[in-house]
Amino acid sequence: MRIEPFALERWMTRYEMDVQWDIAESGIYPMSTRELLALLPEDERDDVHGRLLDTRLGYSEARGTGELRQLIAETYENTSPDEILVTTGAIEANFLLFNALLSPGDRVVAVAPAYQQLNSVPRAIGCEVALWHLRHNGGYFYDLNDLRALATPGTRMIVINTPHNPTGAMLSAAQLREIYALAEELDAWVLSDEAYRWLDLPGSEPLALPMRNLGPRGISTGTFSKPFGLPGLRTGWMAAPEDVVQRCWGLRDYITLSPGKLNDALATIAFRHRDAIAARTRAIVSDNLDFAEGWFARNSDLVSWTPPRGGLLAMMKYELEVPSVELANRLAEEYSVMLAPGSAFGYEGHLRIGIGSTPAIFSEGLQQTETCLRDLQASGVPMKRG
Ligand SMILES: Cc1ncc(COP(=O)(O)O)c(C=O)c1O
Repeated sequence: MRIEPFALERWMTRYEMDVQWDIAESGIYPMSTRELLALLPEDERDDVHGRLLDTRLGYSEARGTGELRQLIAETYENTSPDEILVTTGAIEANFLLFNALLSPGDRVVAVAPAYQQLNSVPRAIGCEVALWHLRHNGGYFYDLNDLRALATPGTRMIVINTPHNPTGAMLSAAQLREIYALAEELDAWVLSDEAYRWLDLPGSEPLALPMRNLGPRGISTGTFSKPFGLPGLRTGWMAAPEDVVQRCWGLRDYITLSPGKLNDALATIAFRHRDAIAARTRAIVSDNLDFAEGWFARNSDLVSWTPPRGGLLAMMKYELEVPSVELANRLAEEYSVMLAPGSAFGYEGHLRIGIGSTPAIFSEGLQQTETCLRDLQASGVPMKRG
């Protein structure tokens, strides 16, 4: 397979290990193993620690342990553990689904901008990929009329992502139902990347139910990376009809074979304590949103944003006449701040910001960003016109 470089990953790996204030991250500040195990009730701790230490590190159950698949399945309607495949992150779930369900020449309609995998992989398979661009008018939103115009007869798959990376836009329950009905009309699949599931934000409407609940053409992918703050487990999943799971499992035999055994065990513990982890996430995010509100107000001559409606990401618009890669490089190299260049998403003049880092990192990262922008302004970089 020939595939274009994953632009944002390439850019991020240049700086992510070196900067002090990483506020570009797409997830919540990761939990440590100690923090995760501290969620166990005291009377279970010794027992669980002992079981983890005694775990024989053989190959794990290929689809993910029955216990983990059962827990995940229970969060969907009409879904059995046989309709869940535990994967190496949502990234593997998406990759397997594209490869199992698409053939060269198939028409795919994929949301744009997006986590690049969602359109690059179908394109690399040889599909004709039509991009469903979000609209921007005082906020980012999906226009279903645009989707209807693109999803012409013969469309094999509609690819959506809600809450959305990178804008924080969301599809409503009614819109999801419409998309499902359209897929039914077209005899197509809907692959819904729900990496940001459970990440409702204070003051926003609750997240709609997963696409998987709507019927057999609906496929949801999910992950421990974003809502749980456990990207290092490299554990995600798909919830799909059993024959689709079987086909993906068959492909997976050639790639990663099975989840890591300890990862599966830790993911199971995390799932059982989802509410406590969600409370940690909410506390981080609401502190950061409060700080951001004041910061954007203080710097409104230079920056603005549409706060995310869900998930952890948003686009920050800046008013200086400087390309976003140049600004992002300068921030990383001279101010030790990471904010992702908007050009990686087709939003020049913007930076992508994540609201999931610790409040100390988030606030200092924004303060340093302010210093950088003011320094540029003082050095004579002009403001954008119009
Ligand atoms: C929309 C979206 N989908 C999938 C992924 C992949 O996540 P992971 O493989 O860590 O589960 C990401 C990561 O940033 C993402 O933003």
